[in-house]
Amino acid sequence: MSLRFRISCLVLAAAAVAPVLALPDAALSDPGKALVIAHRGASGYVPEHSLPAKAMAHAMGADYIEQDVVLSKDGVPVVLHDITLDATTNAAEVFPGRARADGMFYAIDFTLAELKQLQLLERGNKKGEAAFKGRFPREKTGLTIPTLAEELAFIKGMNTSTGRVAGIYPELKSPAFHRTEGKDLAAAVLATLAEAGYGPEDPVFLQSFDFNEIKRVRTELGYKGKLVQLIGENAWNMAPGTDYDALRKPDGLKQIATVANGIGPSLTQVLTDENKDGVAEITSLVADAKAAGLEVHPYTFRADRLPPFAASFDELIKLAVEKAGVDGVFTDQPDKARAAMAR
Ligand code: G3P
Ligand code: CA
Repeated sequence: MSLRFRISCLVLAAAAVAPVLALPDAALSDPGKALVIAHRGASGYVPEHSLPAKAMAHAMGADYIEQDVVLSKDGVPVVLHDITLDATTNAAEVFPGRARADGMFYAIDFTLAELKQLQLLERGNKKGEAAFKGRFPREKTGLTIPTLAEELAFIKGMNTSTGRVAGIYPELKSPAFHRTEGKDLAAAVLATLAEAGYGPEDPVFLQSFDFNEIKRVRTELGYKGKLVQLIGENAWNMAPGTDYDALRKPDGLKQIATVANGIGPSLTQVLTDENKDGVAEITSLVADAKAAGLEVHPYTFRADRLPPFAASFDELIKLAVEKAGVDGVFTDQPDKARAAMAR
């Protein structure tokens, strides 16, 4: 049974008892709930973007599972957070001498066959130490980089075998960088989604930090599914030509709403400790975005890296969902986010 047909059947069944049709979005019918989006999978427990991290996220009941996507040298979309391999693979060990002048190993310099020779590791910092203490050890355990097509097939398989549909949430990583390398990341990702059977009605949010690319995907490439504009800080230098200060003002949000369905701001753009008193301040961003007709899915909720204004993960989730009114949360711990929403 195709994914689209299966989802259609489930949607028809749901329509008989409730007016909310798209299955994962059903969470939005309850004001105490929001979508649980597994950030790089259940990355708080298993190395990010490995297929086991995606299996764990699915088993934990994530509504959506995220895929950050970059291209290999031979143009294959692979699931990796960084355009470089240094922080999450053993590239330096397997391919000594293949770094660029800046000392980094770029995924786009390696064919898929070469990328498949690497092992995924728990994320490290520049010193090679664990980025998050207490998570999965930084050891080789045979985990490899999945292609986007492999991951979509894997999720589709779990949707079938469990009878529960988890949506997908691919991110176009640094499309402008890919263009300077002579590659069209968005076109490759859209082709892979279509080949996997995902259509406009299926549970997919396609995201990017690059507003020019979001506009291009909607207009030039004619994408009909849901699009999410990620909002960073201008200082992060995420996407040339995208001004986040302007985009998160009411007029900027209205501009986003002409092409996209939601925004993905950083958590600190929604909840802040502006007064440095340990009490969360709620910014106007969620209200402004909703006034523009946009959903709001902030990143990243981490049980092992709490902001100063939250004494517990439960408190953080409740502040975001019940007080600020966000529609979804990107989280490294989908089980804990789900449990917090249930309490
Ligand atoms: O895409 C939402 C969130 O994942 C953005 O941050 O850097 O983890 O991709 P990043
Ligand atoms: Ca992401």
